[in-house]
Amino acid sequence: MTLYARNQRRLLIASNRLPLSVKPKDGSYETVPSSGGLVTALKGLSFSDYLWLGWPGVDINERDRESVDKALGKENAAAVYLDQGLAQSHYNGFSNGVLWPTLHYQSDVSFDNETWDAYQRVNKIFADRISEAAADGDLIWVHDYHLLLLPRLLRERLHAQNKRCAIGYFLHTPFPADDFWRGLPVQKQLLDGFLGSDLIGFYTDEYKANFAGACGSHIGAEVEGDDIHYGDCTIHIDKYAKIQELETQYKDKTIIIGVDRMDYTKGLPEKLEGFRAFLDQHPEWSEKVVLIQVAIPSREDVKEYQDLEGEVSKLVGQITGKYATPKSTPLLYIHRSVSFAELTALYSVSDVCLLTSRRDGMNLVASEYVACQEARHGVLVLSEFTGAAVFMKPGSLLFNPADADGLSNALYEAVTMEKKDRKKMYEELRSFVTTNTSAKWTETFVGELMKFQ
Ligand code: ADP
Ligand code: G6P
Repeated sequence: MTLYARNQRRLLIASNRLPLSVKPKDGSYETVPSSGGLVTALKGLSFSDYLWLGWPGVDINERDRESVDKALGKENAAAVYLDQGLAQSHYNGFSNGVLWPTLHYQSDVSFDNETWDAYQRVNKIFADRISEAAADGDLIWVHDYHLLLLPRLLRERLHAQNKRCAIGYFLHTPFPADDFWRGLPVQKQLLDGFLGSDLIGFYTDEYKANFAGACGSHIGAEVEGDDIHYGDCTIHIDKYAKIQELETQYKDKTIIIGVDRMDYTKGLPEKLEGFRAFLDQHPEWSEKVVLIQVAIPSREDVKEYQDLEGEVSKLVGQITGKYATPKSTPLLYIHRSVSFAELTALYSVSDVCLLTSRRDGMNLVASEYVACQEARHGVLVLSEFTGAAVFMKPGSLLFNPADADGLSNALYEAVTMEKKDRKKMYEELRSFVTTNTSAKWTETFVGELMKFQ
């Protein structure tokens, strides 16, 4: 019996990205597992009765929808179908072109009404689909920045249909300081959208405080501890930590691993610059160390992501051009998706994990690495601008990714660290990871949500 079976409440999950993405193949479609922190976080779900609704990732012909519905249905998933142009404007346009950079502290973000309009329309389509699927008493859990307006829209529709459902919302990214947030012309509508929820979750106290501050400053909400009073509603906000546990495998070599989506928030150029500084300052290490960098292709239709790919490839070429020999290379660059088995093997055999995000809501790779390092006690070299750094500070080497020399020093400290010190640091990390599993994260959030009618 699962944790929630006794309560007989069904859980509806709403996110832009489903756990399975649909891809065209030979005139038909296939489903492939999706990647990214949101999907990983929800793998810990221990709910007996749930349905996950989201965009299938591509435009699907009317005539093929039945077979897609069938394939998704087997995985407790259901598609929210969107026309290609509309999906493109919502996903690449407003969500990834405006919101993602704003939430990650980018200041030169250009807003336009056309993509904002698409964003609102998609949120309404989700609201129609989910309110139609919802039954009185269901729990509804909305995820991430693609659906910020959804809680409010859902609340209105459910009220009109006389259905009482608790609405929870979780933001998987940072919520930025006000200087970045308030520049967004539609920020008040977005805050109002969020506040249609009963319960709102963030990864860290800082994101929670930034959000509460914005609600207090811009839409006249009254903040009282972790409660936000707005209109005739009170919304509870909280922070929750999470982690994914993986299998252990290992080999013996000084390997530095990096796993990131190819995204400008991940600081890949900074990572390569820092690694180059390390090799320049410690050339004796160039044949003893290898940085294996997995960069998973992401959002490839967006210009910033295409530019980043070019910049990263150039840096990779420069570093290998300078330091590779016919027998070895200090840098191995993998620009494709790797299987789960390959990923866990890479985590397990690596002595150091290097993560250089400019900003990152949490960063699950850090936790996955720790989970795979029971035997080797690898060192986590972690950007101080990740949510994970707040929790993993005692057991990791933190640095500012903009400082290539600082990164080089941290790397040198990591590769030369004595076994006993590695063990000590690792024990700190391990205790965080084993007590903050993704299962615990979902249980805690949904457990809180159940207190709402
Ligand atoms: P983000 O959410 O920004 O992508 P995270 O580090 O929080 O960053 O999460 C990335 C997640 O994607 C990790 O859980 C990682 O294991 C997962 N992942 C990495 N490579 C793949 C892949 N090829 N297929 C599926 N998931 C992957
Ligand atoms: C981040 C976001 C998720 C998103 C994931 C992958 O983790 O917080 O909402 O699903 O990146 O990005 P994608 O654009 O492929 O969904």
